Amino acid sequence: METETFIRPINTNKSKKKQTSPLLIFLFLFILILLFFYLNNFIFLSLSKKKSIPIIPRPSQCSSTKGKFLWYAPHSGFSNQLAEFKNAILIAKILNRTLIVPPVLDHHAVALGSCPKFRVLNPNELRYKVWNHSIQLLRDCRYVSMADIVDLSPLVSYSTVRFVDFRTFVSSWCGVNLNVLCSKDQNIPSLLSESLRQCGSLLSGYYGSISGCLSALEDDCRTTVWTYQEDVEDGALDSFQPDDQLKKKKKISFIRRRKDVYKALGPGSAAESATVLAFGSLFTAPYKGSESHIDIHEAPNDPIIQTLIEKIEFLPFVPEIINAGKKFALQTIKGPFLCAQLRLLDGQFKNHHKATFLGLKQKIEFLKQTGQKRIHVFVMTDLPMANWTGSYLGSIAKDSDAFKLFVIREEDDLVQETAKEVMDAGHGLKHGSVSQSSAGINKRHHPQSLSDVLLYIEEVVCSCASLGFVGTAGSTIAESIELMRKHDVCFG
Ligand SMILES: *[C@@H]1O[C@H](CO)[C@@H](O)[C@H](O)[C@H]1NC(C)=O
Ligand SMILES: *[C@@H]1O[C@H](CO)[C@@H](O)[C@H](O)[C@H]1NC(C)=O
Ligand SMILES: *[C@@H]1O[C@H](CO)[C@@H](O)[C@H](O)[C@H]1NC(C)=O
Repeated sequence: METETFIRPINTNKSKKKQTSPLLIFLFLFILILLFFYLNNFIFLSLSKKKSIPIIPRPSQCSSTKGKFLWYAPHSGFSNQLAEFKNAILIAKILNRTLIVPPVLDHHAVALGSCPKFRVLNPNELRYKVWNHSIQLLRDCRYVSMADIVDLSPLVSYSTVRFVDFRTFVSSWCGVNLNVLCSKDQNIPSLLSESLRQCGSLLSGYYGSISGCLSALEDDCRTTVWTYQEDVEDGALDSFQPDDQLKKKKKISFIRRRKDVYKALGPGSAAESATVLAFGSLFTAPYKGSESHIDIHEAPNDPIIQTLIEKIEFLPFVPEIINAGKKFALQTIKGPFLCAQLRLLDGQFKNHHKATFLGLKQKIEFLKQTGQKRIHVFVMTDLPMANWTGSYLGSIAKDSDAFKLFVIREEDDLVQETAKEVMDAGHGLKHGSVSQSSAGINKRHHPQSLSDVLLYIEEVVCSCASLGFVGTAGSTIAESIELMRKHDVCFG
């Protein structure tokens, strides 16, 4: 109708046109407005279409996956990952959830940042990085589960802690066959790769928490210190807060609260109904009189948890690794020896060579005074042998009358054989309610990173050193060796 009236005047003569012009303007405006709405609508529709392109995976997984699970995002080096693993076991038990056992991540493949500086990856990003790296390990055929390395059998038989292998869980949750991933041609079917990407984004929390399905926690060391059955009021402020300088400089608005993990996430909470509860980092360290993220050191009112805390203080390596270390100590070094663990190259340790060598020097002087002749020393260090000259290490290496030095290298048969034995044993895949064959996982001979296996064996050798142990101050490797010595791994 309008168009007709609009066209009609054009065909009329000039005198008539002058009369109809106000109507024309009105109609013109009217059409303009219509056009505007039409276009606007069109743009809006196409925008919303674009938005929906990353199809949110239907969390059908939740209804088809039986049980309640706990996932978290480990990071940094092996010792850090092990410490997080222990915290994960503890929290999984407190919340009565099956712990998803992660792979051993490459050293420094994923970093958290700094808690004291309030500069850390947020949990979603951290989880996605861990997911991404885990899938990459599968693609590279170098996936090694934490449970391939750390012996969980005492925990499984003693308590009711439940574990499931990450691969087993992912196969079932994402409905994919992970076997295809580790293939020679590295061409992953795009459908599988897309399913995995979506599954990983969902699990990492990029679509938020989904009621009854996924609770992707946003708590991290900037906001939360997890506690359990503490006397102090739940939600109380932690003693460590960002100072005013930091707040101003970095515009930090974080407040750190102490939260009871059971009250926040256990029965009666929103998180409790979720099939998967996803934490970010579970790393914690003492800092300025507080803990950076998890402060659960005892549970006097809960004997089961109290016993578990004592049990997980030390988790031994699997027998294949322990035996390799013992074999080296007994058959290669023989007799009493001293272990020196010297961390000289990595990060903070670069600037403390003097102090690190001083401890060793003093120990050796002491041994000499007690009449030790030709002291046997097992050395584990990140400083390549070619660079020993000029250091204290170089001087004792030269003095073959007074010392006999031992090292293990990545290329040694012992390391290669142990790596193979560990993979053959495949302890990690023994955990899981979903059977391996139905999850489509074969045991494969993944070549394990030899530098990692070397580290594990070296730690065991050091636990056998009857003349003593000298470690690097502040090194988590030194701490774990001390723990092994305390628990008599070698002689027990
Ligand atoms: C813990 O979970 C298991 C399996 O879901 C269930 O059978 C058991 O009753 C739960 N225990 C408690 C104390 O809630
Ligand atoms: C995931 O890993 C791939 C390589 O494996 C890398 O190119 C990509 O940037 C990673 N994505 C994230 C978000 O870390
Ligand atoms: C070790 O020695 C090599 C060759 O002499 C040298 O290139 C390298 O920078 C040294 N590394 C360290 C950490 O001193």
